[in-house]
Amino acid sequence: MCEIQTKKQGYEHFMLKEIYEQPKAITDTIAGRVGANNELDLTGEIPKNMVKNLENIIFIGCGTAYHASLFGKHLLEEYTDIYVSVEFASEYPYKKVRTNERTLVIVISQSGETADTLSAMRAAAAKGGKILAITNVVGSTIAREADAVMYTHAGPEVAVASTKAYVCQLTCLCLLAAYIQEQNYGRFDQDMIKELKLIPEKINQTLAVYEGTLESYANRFRDAGDAFFLGRGLDYASAMEGQLKLKETTYIHGEALAGGELRHGPMALIEPDVLVVALATQPELVDKMVSVLKEAKTRGADILLLAMDKEKDYSEAADKVLLIPETHPLLAPMLTVVLMQTLAYYTAKVRGCDVDKPRNLVKSVTVE
Ligand code: G6P
Repeated sequence: MCEIQTKKQGYEHFMLKEIYEQPKAITDTIAGRVGANNELDLTGEIPKNMVKNLENIIFIGCGTAYHASLFGKHLLEEYTDIYVSVEFASEYPYKKVRTNERTLVIVISQSGETADTLSAMRAAAAKGGKILAITNVVGSTIAREADAVMYTHAGPEVAVASTKAYVCQLTCLCLLAAYIQEQNYGRFDQDMIKELKLIPEKINQTLAVYEGTLESYANRFRDAGDAFFLGRGLDYASAMEGQLKLKETTYIHGEALAGGELRHGPMALIEPDVLVVALATQPELVDKMVSVLKEAKTRGADILLLAMDKEKDYSEAADKVLLIPETHPLLAPMLTVVLMQTLAYYTAKVRGCDVDKPRNLVKSVTVE
């Protein structure tokens, strides 16, 4: 067996290997940061004064890291009343986004070398922002220049399409959001942290139950030109990451929509057999998603629904329903994304695409 195959440890592609490495990567990212009684231990990495008395928080990232940022914003809005915004790294330097000494700038980058992200980080630092980097690469330029660093412990990620680095970014954001809540309000959501520890096992369960289903479902996408990804609230951030995975690996044009927006224009594109991947994991939004999906279905859409509440009736809202294991609603994206990664992987395979090295893309973009 040649060396590259050995490194794949029997998997046909790095992407699938890395999908399967996610439970361990999350466990490694939590390790040392949460105690046996769910107490947080982040003060060594992130000084307390860095996350207190804040006027605002800005997330900066590109691609998958931008989508992780959207997740982070949602959590921080849930746990604090600090104003949070998310900026594309390539846009931030050219916008007048309020940044000063009371701004926490959270810079997310798997590689720690993305040129756009580095430039944005330097621009934010020049305005006085306190820079906290979330990165996977120890000693990377972004890690070296930041005021503080929280490392994801995903291990090396080889496939261009990010999988395990993304879920580790979400893991860090869960820990960080709880930490910022604790430092500012003297308490944090212990239930979420407790549930976070169970996510690795729930990813294993999800893959065990649905990998085969997704492998055959990918055939429906074999000749597709477009696909819609729908979600509301936190599910919208996941939908954006899901469409990016499909786009990167299969070259199918994917569009993510906030579910409620479907009726405000895009419904005109729904015709028989249009492919839709819908997410409905957020309890307060499930019924509204079901309602819009029913409408899309009467117009002929072919709908794959990823949901969590097994008591609901989805029969008129979807052609196929995959139920993720029950978890804290804020953690549902860590399970739905695994399903969308696996769907993208098998679709890329069935379309004969170069799964690990999609055309025109590189792992780390070092030019602006
Ligand atoms: C490139 C990769 C994407 C990645 C983005 C940001 O475009 O192809 O997969 O999300 O860069 O990379 P970073 O290393 O900064 O997270």
